[in-house]
Amino acid sequence: MAEKIFWRNSVDSTLTWAKEEADFCLGENLKSALFLADKQTAGKGRLGRVWNSPAGENVYMTLLLLKPPVEPVKASSLTLVMGLSVAQAVRDITGISAGIKWPNDVVAAGKKICGILTEMKIRGEKAEYVSIGVGINMNQREFPEELQDKATSLALELGCEVVREEITAGVVERFEKNYELFLEKQDLQSLREEYERLLLNKDRQVRILEKEKESIGIARGITPAGELLVEDENGAVRQVLSGEVSVRGLYSYV
Ligand code: BTN
Repeated sequence: MAEKIFWRNSVDSTLTWAKEEADFCLGENLKSALFLADKQTAGKGRLGRVWNSPAGENVYMTLLLLKPPVEPVKASSLTLVMGLSVAQAVRDITGISAGIKWPNDVVAAGKKICGILTEMKIRGEKAEYVSIGVGINMNQREFPEELQDKATSLALELGCEVVREEITAGVVERFEKNYELFLEKQDLQSLREEYERLLLNKDRQVRILEKEKESIGIARGITPAGELLVEDENGAVRQVLSGEVSVRGLYSYV
């Protein structure tokens, strides 16, 4: 999948780094490149949050897709394709029963093990590039106090260390297959069943936190565009777009 791999011991953020190298990659006619770092000094999370990125323990990577054959409005679905790929790789390689918390958190034992953040540059009507940043907690055993009840790692769940390279390769391999299926129909139709099989929110009550309102409903699955289908108390089903939305379980993180 990745035609070129970039590696550094320390970067501010692999997403920022990938963006800086995008013109070089386009000049080389690359379709994809992978940016990996051992440590991030300014790791970016969703909704403007910071991504805790200590050295030597985890995976911080950005997959840069150059001139992807995807309409810009559909590119945000690639975040869900990546979430699915991470959950599959973790399950297949470690045996941990990881699942997905919509739209793209990967969760084990009720706590987050992976976060994904996608950025895009549009030129004219086309995507010049899409960069998918992925942070996976692998061998980290201690978390800052504010994350202790929300975050875990593969090592904590398994009771032994994992080989970062093996899981990274497994994620990229699965993404490649899932991405092909996505491109065929230009939506998540072919991946929907597998995504919903691993969707932890499915048929559970969720609290939707939008900018100025909060609502409760039951998550029923996703649309081919990746929106969450939420049923309200009257049985009406609405589609919730990712973006500036947080979804929580009623009494817990999922
Ligand atoms: C989230 O908040 O859940 C998204 C976290 C995304 C973190 C990854 S780590 C690699 C890449 N570089 C960044 O700065 N962020 C993403």
